Amino acid sequence: MGGGTGRAPVTGDDGEAVLAAIRTRRVVRSMRPEPVDRPVLEAVLDAARWAPTAGNRHLQRFVVTDDPGVLRVLRAVSPGMLQHPAAAIVVCTDRALAAGYGFPPGAPGLFVDVGTATATILLAAHALGIGAGPVTSFSHAAVSVVLGLPEGLEPELIVCLGHPAPGGPAPMRGGRRLSWRDLTTWVPPQD
Ligand SMILES: Cc1cc2nc3c(=O)[nH]c(=O)nc-3n(C[C@H](O)[C@H](O)[C@H](O)COP(=O)(O)O)c2cc1C
Repeated sequence: MGGGTGRAPVTGDDGEAVLAAIRTRRVVRSMRPEPVDRPVLEAVLDAARWAPTAGNRHLQRFVVTDDPGVLRVLRAVSPGMLQHPAAAIVVCTDRALAAGYGFPPGAPGLFVDVGTATATILLAAHALGIGAGPVTSFSHAAVSVVLGLPEGLEPELIVCLGHPAPGGPAPMRGGRRLSWRDLTTWVPPQD
């Protein structure tokens, strides 16, 4: 059992498959125009709700579109959106709900939760054979208007989704990958 949760830990081939998915996921910035099937989108969204959240409060909401017209306008107000996605999940924070639980507007946990949701969405899409890429460079005001977001629901990050196409923009910073040793300090220091 996994740490008193009543759930069996992932082991053996399943564990290797999870690690392989983590290692092979890459941001996809070139996508084919055909739609992503709704059951696939729903499976990605279902995965997102399993992401860990601060205090288990689930203060993020997911606004989804696969409407070509809406996607076109979203792209027009998002300089960081290099791909032409077939669908997009906008990860939003429910600021009103957060305030109700005592989270101040800039509370780090709110942004960490956006990250855990995004990482889970990217990995789930990869596991389902769908390309995905996060975008943070966009006009928050324009995206709110385009999606008709209610007051208090703040768009934080857009995940583009689509069937991967060959080619496309090169990985940022040349796709440099640091080793775990580059990123890690042991205490006390190890030889
Ligand atoms: C917080 C955050 C914001 C990002 N914003 C963008 C973006 O606006 N446009 C984009 O093309 N990629 C964006 N990315 C993707 C990163 O550039 C990408 O993860 C990084 O280059 C490593 O590539 P990989 O995930 O394929 O290994 C973002 C990633 C994160 C975590």
